[in-house]
Amino acid sequence: MTESPWLLVLGANSDMAIATAKRYAQAGYNLYLASRNLEECEKNAADIRLRYKIEVQALQFDAQDFSTHANFYAGLVVKPKGALVAFGFMAEQQLAQADFSLAKAMIDTNYTGAVSILEIIAADFEQRQSGFIVGISSVAGDRGRMSNYIYGSTKAAFSAYLAGLRHRLIKSKVLVLTVKPGFVATKMTADLDLPAKLTAKPEQVGNAIFNAVEKKKSTIYVKPIWCLIMLIIVHLPNFVFYKTKM
Ligand SMILES: NC(=O)c1ccc[n+]([C@@H]2O[C@H](COP(=O)([O-])OP(=O)(O)OC[C@H]3O[C@@H](n4cnc5c(N)ncnc54)[C@H](OP(=O)(O)O)[C@@H]3O)[C@@H](O)[C@H]2O)c1
Repeated sequence: MTESPWLLVLGANSDMAIATAKRYAQAGYNLYLASRNLEECEKNAADIRLRYKIEVQALQFDAQDFSTHANFYAGLVVKPKGALVAFGFMAEQQLAQADFSLAKAMIDTNYTGAVSILEIIAADFEQRQSGFIVGISSVAGDRGRMSNYIYGSTKAAFSAYLAGLRHRLIKSKVLVLTVKPGFVATKMTADLDLPAKLTAKPEQVGNAIFNAVEKKKSTIYVKPIWCLIMLIIVHLPNFVFYKTKM
């Protein structure tokens, strides 16, 4: 009998992470739910364990605590088949312009923290010649815009990182998937007035990730309309772009 595979979810209290974890639980995966808020993580773990009758372990993980990452991964008794980087931090653009500590927290979480833990995971997957890595990046990284360019630049860096990691790992049969969700109704966007037609639910993200990994895709926009929107935004000539406030 083959053992059930494990999924490592980093930033597991994210609404998208929980939805994705549940989709993998449905498919019979066991789960490592890793988050800096262990108490909340334990609650989610207990709920998923009860519903899906799988093994779920809640673990302490802080993306900004780089020096702990190697021991964190070494401590996983069964190494995972897949890893999802869902953690992320978005401060309001104008606040981050005025307060470098907010800009730094976005850089440290969304980029440096992701690189730190993913290099450790990638080395293991590369050596085992199997596995999949999913990174939740953002359409905000597709073109720097005045309303969100500090957060956007951290996601641009993360998308470029994932593209390079994919290039490196392709020969080792390791899949690297970049997810650009568009707007999603989560804790992160709870204060924003998002257009319903352009906004996905966390469950749609979970399903899209699961299906994209099955189909071995490299990059997805969760709602396909975002691919078109970003194509237009990226190709807007500067003389038009500079007149907008986006
Ligand atoms: N919502 C959107 O519209 C949208 C769109 C595009 C991309 N994204 C990206 O999607 C991902 C998931 O976000 P979400 O919308 O699901 O938001 P969310 O529910 O607010 O989740 C973000 C999670 O990141 C965790 N986190 C923040 N800093 C961390 C750190 N230093 N170490 C470990 N965990 C940390 C938070 O943990 P705590 O629970 O401890 O605070 C939180 O659970 C993020 O990368 C975000 O940038 C979101």
